Amino acid sequence: MPDKSVLFKIRRQSNPGAQAHWEEFELAWHPGMNVISSMMEIARNPVTRDGKQTTPITYDSNCLEEVCGSCAMLINGRARMACSALVDNLEKPIVLEPLSKFPVIRDLAVDRSVLFENLKRVQAWVPVDGTYDLGSGPRLTMKEQEAAYPLSRCISCCCCMEVCPQFNEQTGFVGAATISQVRLFNTHPTGAALKHERLLALMGDGGIQECGYAQNCVEACPKDIPLTRSISEVGGQVMKQAIGDLFRQ
Ligand code: SF4
Ligand code: SF4
Ligand code: FES
Repeated sequence: MPDKSVLFKIRRQSNPGAQAHWEEFELAWHPGMNVISSMMEIARNPVTRDGKQTTPITYDSNCLEEVCGSCAMLINGRARMACSALVDNLEKPIVLEPLSKFPVIRDLAVDRSVLFENLKRVQAWVPVDGTYDLGSGPRLTMKEQEAAYPLSRCISCCCCMEVCPQFNEQTGFVGAATISQVRLFNTHPTGAALKHERLLALMGDGGIQECGYAQNCVEACPKDIPLTRSISEVGGQVMKQAIGDLFRQ
């Protein structure tokens, strides 16, 4: 090893049912290294620190610029994106683990489909599908666009769910990302057609009332999405609708 090296301690698991174990890798330091580029280096030469030949680390990544959301993992115990985690800014040894609240597929790759199921549950889309020309939609003012843009930056990384004390099997809580997408689509003039159904989906078990407002989510979000603001706003919409529905009965 050259003078300067970087030590990685990585939690490995060969399949969803296998026992997890740790392996250590020592890489030569070079400027600009990040966690994903280090995984690529290990893939080129998968040999552990003590000289044992092993398999490359399995992990998800795609864009390498914090846009696709796929590379979320625990880095030194913190849920964050591996492609923007610069080695020079991390404490050593660098400890890598898969997100803890999602089923492990292999090594650092986890199954995050629960978020996509939750987005389907609240119909997080603008309902414009059809076989005929619907014409142009209503125009959004600049003010509406500016309000929607921060919410549209969600990359489905699931960091907000990983750090949320309420996101667990007992509560079945949908989590902050889904609630924030409800806010986004409820404020869209065409998306608002499904507002009632979306808010209904957030009532009852696993709904918005499970949020304890601990605010871990907003701290962890790599895209600085105003999640607690979304939770307050959507919570108000749910409450208003529940009271209205009661009086309409
Ligand atoms: S405010 Fe707290 S309980 Fe609510 S979604 Fe965020 S982290 Fe979870
Ligand atoms: S709200 Fe933020 S932390 Fe949560 S999935 Fe979206 S980008 Fe990730
Ligand atoms: S690889 Fe796309 S966000 Fe990291």
